[in-house]
Amino acid sequence: AQRKQIDEVLALFQLTRQQLVDVQGKMRAELEYGLKRKTHALATVKMLPTYVYGMPDGTEKGKYLALDLGGTNFRVLLVKIRSGRRSVRMYNKIFAIPLEIMQGTGEELFDHIVQCIADFLDYMGLKGAQLPLGFTFSFPCRQANIDKGTLIEWTKGFKATDCEGEDVVDMLREAIKRRNEFDLDIVAVVNDTVGTMMTCAYEDPNCEIGLIAGTGSNMCYMEEMRNIELVEGNEGKMCINTEWGGFGDNGCIDDIRTQYDMEVDEGSLNPGKQRYEKMTSGMYLGEIVRQILIDLTKQGLLFRGRISERLRTRGIFETKFLSQIESDRLALLQVRRILQQLGLDSTCEDSIVVKEVCGAVSRRAAQLCGAGLAAIVEKRRQDQRLEHLKITVGVDGTLYKLHPHFSLVLQETVKELAPQCDVMFLLSEDGSGKGAALITAVAKRLQQPRR
Ligand code: BG6
Ligand code: GLC
Repeated sequence: AQRKQIDEVLALFQLTRQQLVDVQGKMRAELEYGLKRKTHALATVKMLPTYVYGMPDGTEKGKYLALDLGGTNFRVLLVKIRSGRRSVRMYNKIFAIPLEIMQGTGEELFDHIVQCIADFLDYMGLKGAQLPLGFTFSFPCRQANIDKGTLIEWTKGFKATDCEGEDVVDMLREAIKRRNEFDLDIVAVVNDTVGTMMTCAYEDPNCEIGLIAGTGSNMCYMEEMRNIELVEGNEGKMCINTEWGGFGDNGCIDDIRTQYDMEVDEGSLNPGKQRYEKMTSGMYLGEIVRQILIDLTKQGLLFRGRISERLRTRGIFETKFLSQIESDRLALLQVRRILQQLGLDSTCEDSIVVKEVCGAVSRRAAQLCGAGLAAIVEKRRQDQRLEHLKITVGVDGTLYKLHPHFSLVLQETVKELAPQCDVMFLLSEDGSGKGAALITAVAKRLQQPRR
């Protein structure tokens, strides 16, 4: 009887092919709404123009600073690009962003960022150098140019006050002025998906999609200008930051959301928002697992029916633990040891169940992400009236990189749902800072009218 109850819970996470086809279709519809002038304002998939028109062509060169804010790590980088050889040298330093800064005031957040830049310049012996800077800022921004980005709303773990509705480039410039120690030329603000696509496109010109499966989940791609009703002009292409994490915020995938998804949503910093992201990304998968474990314990099916203080603690299952627990090489004894490290006292049977729960949650995440990706590659194929599309996706993020099965299930799902597309996945080894520097270099070269 116990087994049956456990299986019933796991079954909630097993999606049929038809359900995935449905998700693909709904994603496709939302992508189209976001592009159209009439429906854009209401669209849950925001489809934000990025003002990134083209790929690097190898003639870029120079020294650039880059900031990379919004993933697991905050980094400051110096990127040296040499033309012709497509060679790039990078130096970077990781800085912590304490929780009280992530959720403090906007001024404190940007002062902290500028403090980190100052430390980095000091460390590199670059004080006084006036370098162009590319800012990877991994949150939804409305852009009217490459060097302007109004934060629409915070996502993931950030909640600093007085930033939503403000231009983050202005906020950075003001913080630099307040410090009054150095001057920087902020040339571009870039989403991490866009930076990742660029990083990968530098090696593979066929890379026209950027995917992040990390703390958050998002995708960008090159769209025909004539399809982007919000931007003047019909020639060429522009990169669109889809912000697909918000897919489902109108309830359109509520049929596949479980009570555990609702609980995770309610306990988050942004209830009701980013529903697809909350089913597919690293920041939330562990939380879904924890909610299931609490429920199974309540039903007396786990941990001898006792809910420990630890199990009540938010955020204990980070991506790296899920990845370890699901590793095929790991003996159950080791799973037990990981659970012990997490402060969860388990029997051997418990550890089997925990592993199954993790597997069900991460598999669904990879399938849902795959259904989203299938929607975009099929759209690109049909828009170009091709029988067959060959395209490369540049990918980054801890979930994709660390998890033992996520990438495979994702790829299989895309193949299954978009059989006429030949999709290659290219891992970004250099993060998105390199891409931000390349975009900065291109923007400098084109001398786009700014401000
Ligand atoms: C990094 C990129 O490698 O991956 C960041 O440089 C990005 O820009 C990050 O935000 C996403 O992964 P995670 O797991 O750190 O959120
Ligand atoms: C969140 C952000 C988005 C970012 C993604 C991955 O969804 O809103 O801008 O690209 O996380 O980091």
